[in-house]
Amino acid sequence: MAHLYNSLALELASRIDAGVYQVGQRLPGVRSTSQSRGVSTATAVAAYRQLEDEGYIESRPRSGFYVRSRARVVLPEPRLSRRSARPIPVNGQQMMLGLVQSAQRPDLIRFGAAVPDHSYLPTRAIEKALSTAMRLNRVQVSAYEFSPGLLTLRQQIARRMGETGCITDPDEVLITNGCQEALYLALKSLTEPGDVVAVESPTYYGLLQVIDALGLKALEIPTHPGEGLGIEALQLALEQWPVKVCVVTPNFNNPLGCLMPHNRRVALLELARTHGLSIVEDDIYGDLGFDLRRPDTLLGLAQNMGMADQVIYCSSFSKTLAPGLRIGWMVSTAHRDTLAFQKFVMNSASPSITQLAVATMLESGRYERHLRGLRQSMAQAVHRMADRLCQHFPMKTCITRPQGGFVIWVELPNGVDANELAQKALEKGISIAPGPLFSATQKYRNHIRLSCAVLWNERVEKALKILGQLVTDAAVEK
Ligand SMILES: Cc1ncc(COP(=O)(O)O)c(C=O)c1O
Repeated sequence: MAHLYNSLALELASRIDAGVYQVGQRLPGVRSTSQSRGVSTATAVAAYRQLEDEGYIESRPRSGFYVRSRARVVLPEPRLSRRSARPIPVNGQQMMLGLVQSAQRPDLIRFGAAVPDHSYLPTRAIEKALSTAMRLNRVQVSAYEFSPGLLTLRQQIARRMGETGCITDPDEVLITNGCQEALYLALKSLTEPGDVVAVESPTYYGLLQVIDALGLKALEIPTHPGEGLGIEALQLALEQWPVKVCVVTPNFNNPLGCLMPHNRRVALLELARTHGLSIVEDDIYGDLGFDLRRPDTLLGLAQNMGMADQVIYCSSFSKTLAPGLRIGWMVSTAHRDTLAFQKFVMNSASPSITQLAVATMLESGRYERHLRGLRQSMAQAVHRMADRLCQHFPMKTCITRPQGGFVIWVELPNGVDANELAQKALEKGISIAPGPLFSATQKYRNHIRLSCAVLWNERVEKALKILGQLVTDAAVEK
């Protein structure tokens, strides 16, 4: 009996998702459904009750069952990411370059790249800062700014970090070409080929690419969509495997957007202390929280706990100012000299002109003023996207509730293949990031990541409807 009403409910749900029954429309009566399907009225009633519980329909007294408006349906958060079996070499990242290149098409609606549309970025102010830098420092702009990088920029960065409770000496700051280079240098200095690196799962694919490039093995640690890295799972992993480093994004991880609570951070550092584990903190989204107060850094907490030597901090201005500036930085007390030397060996220096321009923007307060508006716009963008997903995507879809950043992680109904969906979406002029990219083993086959920081207009609204329809069609086909 239970089986029968379940499959009837499933069948009706997919017809609603497919638009056979529209919002506000009355479903066939219980008696007529029981007759047409050859089931008892009790079974039909049970199926309708299940649909009601799932938010598909509502019952109106003495009138029957009606399809509910989707706007009111809030999709649940995705489940906890799955347990990893063992450390493994990363694979499947080669497709990424193709994806990034195809997503460069100017006509594309870009939900795929975690890059804010330029309308969110202070392009005028950057232009001004660059031309002032050129005018006032013509000689310096033409010269190398060797490791560790421009002193005034390092001073400004150290000042800002101090304001978030992380006491930083400008000499401990190393300027890098974006956060990606910082992650590379951090892992290179802490590991030998073959070493095991624990990562959040799902995680930022650029990190997986670094792990691959350095010949390391990734150990995926289940990560909670609201609270971040699973501490118990990490503890089990540390008891079982020789993990050298753990890379973590406590502030608004990409793709989940979660904020790790204080007690988890303390537990993570305690584990690191017990097991002699190094931590690499990726704080690239730290300035983009939706609350007024900027969340603290893990490095600041490690300082308070007397273990700053075990943490290397990495970040950049790519998500807040412009990715094209390629200005990132890292902070380490224990590995400062090694890191500066490795940076020098790799590419001698980061461009002088962009370092000068960013230093000016920090010094003048322009950056801080821009951030205030940016955080609000991003919070709005994320809420608007969540609302549209609730309207246009089938009911079995789950979405995260990010507390910062500008991406949403979407779990699609079982059986929908994210890679196929990405291909079909691209044919319709829409880019999305398929879930397998965010895992060393290419799991998350029915997940996608969407960037919300797009220039919102009718084309975007239409694109989301199309995407929702593609998902619905794929769910019905399975
Ligand atoms: C979590 C995370 N870390 C690092 C990076 C790389 O940043 P950058 O462009 O500064 O190298 C990104 C970019 O998407 C990211 O999302």
